[in-house]
Amino acid sequence: MTNRYWRLDARPQGNDFAKALSLVEAELGEPQNGEIVIDNRMLSMDAGTRMWMTDRTDGYQPPLELGVPMSGLVIGPVIASRADGFAAGDWVRAFGTWSDYSIVDATLSGAMMLDTSVSDMRDHFGPLGMNGWTALWGLEKTGATKAGDKVLVSAAAGATGLLACQIAQLLGGEAYGIAGGETKCAILERDYGVTKAFDYRAGDMTEKLAAIDGGIDVYFDNIGGEILEAVLANMALYGRVAVCGLIAEYANGRRGCPANFDQVLMKRLRIEGFFSPDFMQHGDELTARLRQWVDAGELSLPYDVTLGLANTLTAYEKLFTGGNIGKVIVELSK
Ligand SMILES: NC(=O)c1ccc[n+]([C@@H]2O[C@H](COP(=O)([O-])OP(=O)(O)OC[C@H]3O[C@@H](n4cnc5c(N)ncnc54)[C@H](OP(=O)(O)O)[C@@H]3O)[C@@H](O)[C@H]2O)c1
Repeated sequence: MTNRYWRLDARPQGNDFAKALSLVEAELGEPQNGEIVIDNRMLSMDAGTRMWMTDRTDGYQPPLELGVPMSGLVIGPVIASRADGFAAGDWVRAFGTWSDYSIVDATLSGAMMLDTSVSDMRDHFGPLGMNGWTALWGLEKTGATKAGDKVLVSAAAGATGLLACQIAQLLGGEAYGIAGGETKCAILERDYGVTKAFDYRAGDMTEKLAAIDGGIDVYFDNIGGEILEAVLANMALYGRVAVCGLIAEYANGRRGCPANFDQVLMKRLRIEGFFSPDFMQHGDELTARLRQWVDAGELSLPYDVTLGLANTLTAYEKLFTGGNIGKVIVELSK
């Protein structure tokens, strides 16, 4: 059987993904011991994967080698299995490849059996998947969010951010957002209960964030960069910064160090990073809690869907140009 896959040929410059990746064809091959073959039906587009395309060796995982298929989360049915606990017909989510089919080691890829009774299988990427786990873990464990906290979320209209805005409120906090453009800010305030959303593309952020009366108790940071400085200037005493992502810096390799780092001492702040593989083992508990909110209609995510493997790069680029609201997915028609 033939398999098409996106191959990483070179390290992308900026958002020029078309120059760095190409869609190629190869024989699919056979699964080895411990492996499963997934008929990819959906690909998850995740901003963190941009770092895997770079050559930095001090990230939280090694860079991808050139010439290999691009990795990413996939959902689909198993069509062949040589791994215990998985059989043809099971629907799974795993770290696979941007391809028609993924052959993966069931353990190393974190393959997880999916509940097909959910009303929208895409939710296994969003609220019930890595974005949901990350938002809940980051707010509750890293950010120590408690009732009454003022919680500011950046990249607030994206997948992880939009979930964080809603979960902050479900944990009893008051949500504030940072997003690019008036439209996204209006949607956050109108549809997702965000008290105030700030457009980082217009005006001085340090001045704008001063409108948060009493300061920010928890900052769920998806961006890093200059916006972090504006936030530090407006944190409340004993505030917490949960560092989820640094999307402003993935492509340019810049090392951001806030010029006003002194605020950490002056305001007795705690800054802590967190990374989803560290809490994968809590996935079932996190999913169960998130599922209750989803089933009650209290937690949801819009999907930005691109059709066809050939159009994957167009979908991926949206993460870095702000072209998306909610979760970016590629659906593969079979
Ligand atoms: N720690 C973890 O385990 C973990 C797990 C999942 C995700 N994350 C992180 O969560 C963040 C969001 O990822 P996602 O996959 O959910 O993507 P996403 O939020 O759906 O999309 C990324 C969004 O970031 C914003 N953005 C892009 N470049 C920016 C820049 N230079 N400055 C400010 N905003 C920018 C864009 O919205 P605007 O229109 O607002 O610019 C874009 O829509 C990333 O930093 C990712 O690494 C971390």
